[in-house]
Amino acid sequence: MRAKTKKSISDSLETKPSLLSHMPFLLQDLWALGGSLPHIISAVSALKIASPKTRVLDLGCGKGAVAIQIASKFGFYITGIDTMKPFLRDAQLKAAEYGVSHLCEFVRQDILEYVSRKHDFDMVILASLGGIFGSFRNTVTKLRRQVKSGGYMMIDDGYVKQDPLLLRKGYNHYKIHEETLEELTAFGDYLVTEINTRDFSEKINAEYLKVIEKRGKELMKSYPELQSDLSDYIRTQVEEYAFINEYIEGALWVLQKKRRDPATNIQKPVSRGADEGRRQDAEGSRSAE
Ligand SMILES: C[S@@+](CC[C@H](N)C(=O)[O-])C[C@H]1O[C@@H](n2cnc3c(N)ncnc32)[C@H](O)[C@@H]1O
Repeated sequence: MRAKTKKSISDSLETKPSLLSHMPFLLQDLWALGGSLPHIISAVSALKIASPKTRVLDLGCGKGAVAIQIASKFGFYITGIDTMKPFLRDAQLKAAEYGVSHLCEFVRQDILEYVSRKHDFDMVILASLGGIFGSFRNTVTKLRRQVKSGGYMMIDDGYVKQDPLLLRKGYNHYKIHEETLEELTAFGDYLVTEINTRDFSEKINAEYLKVIEKRGKELMKSYPELQSDLSDYIRTQVEEYAFINEYIEGALWVLQKKRRDPATNIQKPVSRGADEGRRQDAEGSRSAE
């Protein structure tokens, strides 16, 4: 595995490269690895996409929690990309358990490499991958190349509550709300919806901590040499969640890529109407579930 890939995986899982091979053990009790699953499902549902032939790309799909539930609920075709072999194996087993193996393809590849080529999906999802592509502007630049004209881009991440000066590793891409929206829509795409995910993030972070503390202790017994790295990892996770709770507001954004006029090849703003933009706060999204 390339050093760059290894770094992006350990960053996305907020761990040290030395613990990477133990992450499947530490995270064995979790299916969703950070994505705001109920909000994503509710956002997809609100789009009211009629075609069962819809093709969805899930970048950094982990164990396929998002991908498989979308395939199962909407009948869409999913391509999930990740480099963690044990996660992809779990994803395949879960797809079989949910009876959607025929709709799901899980590919072992570096997403940094995958997005260097253009694709024509109907929707792309980037859930809980932080600033893997850099700024939100760079992220949208990459994601737009993965979907067709009029296609959807779903980003599950967040923005800074007030202070834009965040001196914590992995938080460089965060901006205040207004600047984040400017970057997300820098290419004239339409913001279909924004959902506040704080409630779910707090819940999943607490659950995550409980799990890694329990499994971390078990791992220390089998690998005493990892004691210091594991203790560091658990301590950093505790600090990380305290930091997120204080400074970051979780958000899920759905953008619709500007349509291209086939006659003139000119990019047209997406018309409102059926897809009238909605901002849902946590309350709104809960009622939509
Ligand atoms: C925090 S998890 C989120 C997983 C999934 N989206 C979810 O919400 O359950 C991040 C995932 O991204 C994957 N990942 C990180 N960097 C990657 C890269 N460069 N190429 C492929 N997968 C990557 C990790 O292996 C991990 O499974």
